[in-house]
Amino acid sequence: MTMPRPMTQRRPITEPRPMPVLTTRDELAAARDALAARGARVAVVMTMGALHDGHAALLRAARELADAVIATIFVNPLQFGPTEDRDRYPRTLAADVAVCQRAAVEAVFAPAQAVVYPEPPQVTVGAGPLGNVLEGASRPGHFDGVLTVVAKLLHLTRPDVAVFGEKDAQQLVLIRRMVRDLDFGVDVVGVPTVREPDGLALSSRNRYLAPAERATALALSRALRAGATAAAAGPTQVRRAAHAVLDAEPGLRLDYLALVDPATLAEVEDNHAGPALLAVAGRVGATRLIDNVTMRISEQVSGQLFGQPSHSSAGAGGRHVLKEP
Ligand code: PAJ
Repeated sequence: MTMPRPMTQRRPITEPRPMPVLTTRDELAAARDALAARGARVAVVMTMGALHDGHAALLRAARELADAVIATIFVNPLQFGPTEDRDRYPRTLAADVAVCQRAAVEAVFAPAQAVVYPEPPQVTVGAGPLGNVLEGASRPGHFDGVLTVVAKLLHLTRPDVAVFGEKDAQQLVLIRRMVRDLDFGVDVVGVPTVREPDGLALSSRNRYLAPAERATALALSRALRAGATAAAAGPTQVRRAAHAVLDAEPGLRLDYLALVDPATLAEVEDNHAGPALLAVAGRVGATRLIDNVTMRISEQVSGQLFGQPSHSSAGAGGRHVLKEP
């Protein structure tokens, strides 16, 4: 028979569960072992911090998929090129911890660089051919760095399910490939892109944008919407419609616009029918932004369009989402 615990040891029901911020491997291992002992199904949401409602949607989705969520916050040096924005990448740990606490995260793992990389790694994950196109063509080595840290964080957190955003479509494709090709044995779940009401995809880098630059940046999502609206007319019209919007925005320096097969990331032929991913990247001032949308070519677009309220099961929290038709 179990004895009733004395009242003094009981926590009032209203008191929020304390959420530890773990910084060492040992702390993380102990927390993970405790979850295993509880038999909890565990989800991980990996981030580089500067959390916004897009990250919050991932945390909510993770919460629905598992008993306990571990969020990681780590600005991974391996995925930044020498001329990229690693040093000015926003660091807002206290606010990020508050976001995680509100999302009922079990524990945050926010290690220092020396914890994740006690020494420079000699063995890293190679992203292969899918890592050399689109973002990879503009950012050589970027996806090797992403996959290396994702692999390490999967090993350290040992999740049942890992949740990533469709905002970084190529990253998601590559993580799915890595998990399949290297037998990681973890479920990978994608969450639709969370947008501002005017269509701008939420990004940690949006905070770099001056008001006029933000207005210019809207051309990215406008171009994707124009492309998606032309989906029934075929790939040529999709590309033409999107380019027309981008060409009309002199403040935007286009890096690429590509209409690709969502699995192989190869440019689709002009007679392609079926699913396609329209991906765009460009620079506004010193800020590089990416966005994408999936669509079905040569079939009527029947799903949700930009600007309509989201009914996403991931719970975008009143934000606007363009879902796959
Ligand atoms: P970060 O850019 O912080 O993004 C963390 C996760 O949030 C990624 O899965 C990303 O796709 C998702 N995300 C970002 N903006 C989103 C939006 N508007 N809507 C929905 N999801 C969004 O991606 C990374 O960090 C890193 O590469 C990482 C995977 C953590 C490895 O270092």
